[in-house]
Amino acid sequence: MSDLIPISKAACIGGGVIGGGWVARLILTGIDVAVYDPAPDAERIVGEILANATRAYGKLTAVPLPQPGTLTFVGSIAEAVAGAEFIQESVPERLDLKRRVLAEIDATAEEDALIGSSTSGLLPSDLQVGLTYPERLVVAHPYNPVYLLPLVELVAGNATSPQTLERAKLIYGALGMKPVVIAKEIEAFVGDRLLEALWREALWLIKDDICDVETLDDVIRYSFGLRWAQMGLFQTYRIAGGEAGMRHFLAQFGPCLAWPWTKLTDVPDLDDALVDKIAMQSDRQANGRGIRELERIRDDNLVAILHGLKGAENGAGWGAGQSLKVFEDRLWSMAKAASLSAPAADFARPLSLHETTVNAAWLDYNGHMTEFRYLQVFGDASDAFLRLIGIDAETAASGSSFFTAETHIRHLHETKRGTRLRVETQVLSAGGKKLHLFHRLIHAGTGACHATGEHILIHVANGKPADPPPAIAARLGEIAMAQTDLPVPDGAGRFVGQPR
Ligand SMILES: NC(=O)c1ccc[n+]([C@@H]2O[C@H](COP(=O)([O-])OP(=O)(O)OC[C@H]3O[C@@H](n4cnc5c(N)ncnc54)[C@H](O)[C@@H]3O)[C@@H](O)[C@H]2O)c1
Repeated sequence: MSDLIPISKAACIGGGVIGGGWVARLILTGIDVAVYDPAPDAERIVGEILANATRAYGKLTAVPLPQPGTLTFVGSIAEAVAGAEFIQESVPERLDLKRRVLAEIDATAEEDALIGSSTSGLLPSDLQVGLTYPERLVVAHPYNPVYLLPLVELVAGNATSPQTLERAKLIYGALGMKPVVIAKEIEAFVGDRLLEALWREALWLIKDDICDVETLDDVIRYSFGLRWAQMGLFQTYRIAGGEAGMRHFLAQFGPCLAWPWTKLTDVPDLDDALVDKIAMQSDRQANGRGIRELERIRDDNLVAILHGLKGAENGAGWGAGQSLKVFEDRLWSMAKAASLSAPAADFARPLSLHETTVNAAWLDYNGHMTEFRYLQVFGDASDAFLRLIGIDAETAASGSSFFTAETHIRHLHETKRGTRLRVETQVLSAGGKKLHLFHRLIHAGTGACHATGEHILIHVANGKPADPPPAIAARLGEIAMAQTDLPVPDGAGRFVGQPR
């Protein structure tokens, strides 16, 4: 536990679509998770969701992720919640079941453990009935896939304490999420209220043969779906009002609401005929693609959107992209804290400062780690080395950093998905503004060297090459001196194309 991550052990009760998503977000943020789900295939489902999430994070961020948390499956709620500081309930949406499960969590968890419920629409006050410590329960409603979509709606019940709400904001925020507090409890909160109204209208449009499901989805994704992802509803309509803004927009389109265009709250009868019609059109739309494949396509698209939004506003980030940026800043701080708390390295040997696993998203069409990922891994190892000598994002912001001037990578072995890799780093020379590093990419299982990276880095102060500040130069000098007697590694100083 640290200021950066306020919890170290969590429990997930229910490991389906949403529970699995929570597991993935927690594990990938370095938190240990115990799962209880009585379904015989829960372990498989959680494993598949975690695999997809791991793949998605490989594309989402180039910031080194923390060592993943440990995942355990246990046989009871009591075992899962033992020692957990944070518990997320994600069992099916039935009040009686949720009350039973929450009562058991409440009776067996640590008194100060925070309990979040994933319910899509049940009132938190109804969930709190009968609990001994209802003040620590809050609705924390996420969106699927939980590991990529940042929003979590926090809804307090009558008994929820203000401290619980504050702590919930802290915990979910530390998981890279955007917690929003809903001012009053109401069934289905805000998101599902909106989605239900849209969905009901969509069902009428299909039932009345106005369009099929594919056309309806196209209408959303080629138009206002794109607007919603970045500005939501009201800001979009403000712009639609032109220079006269929101007042003009309300005056122009407000009266239409009274005509009315929509079916309002009439619910179409989901009889067999309508269910068959929607299911058949949906099968046609999927065109043979399975659920996991569709999930991967969805994840890749979401990652692309998040990247776009992260780069908006001259790199300050916009909307969900800003959440990603804040999450990445936290990951950098975690990487720095990890390197500061690591046992002092023996500088007289090549340094092992960075480990990683080849992510499914890093492969090329041959099924091997693709070229630029080698540079990413070597770049991460250089960053770990720089943190060791005291250079990081903070020193860069104050004007002192190392820039890479030259790189030579040799590819020695194919590197396959799932391979655990360790980078060994040697200082070939360091003096003045120049730093000469050599990395060896080692297969952690076989010990074989899969690639080498040789890099010249130049210290830059306020945009110009300059000697590093004295404290950094001293630390660098200490490591370089300790490594002077190491043999020159095989391949160092080679030029591109030199015969082996
Ligand atoms: N699916 C979504 O898009 C979505 C989005 C946000 C919130 N939610 C909410 O999340 C919750 C879970 O929904 P889901 O879609 O993951 O459902 P799901 O059916 O995929 O998963 C529910 C899991 O709970 C397990 N379970 C049943 N009884 C249990 C018990 N007594 N103890 C522990 N586990 C038990 C089931 O075996 C199953 O694996 C619901 O409250 C739902 O409203 C769903």
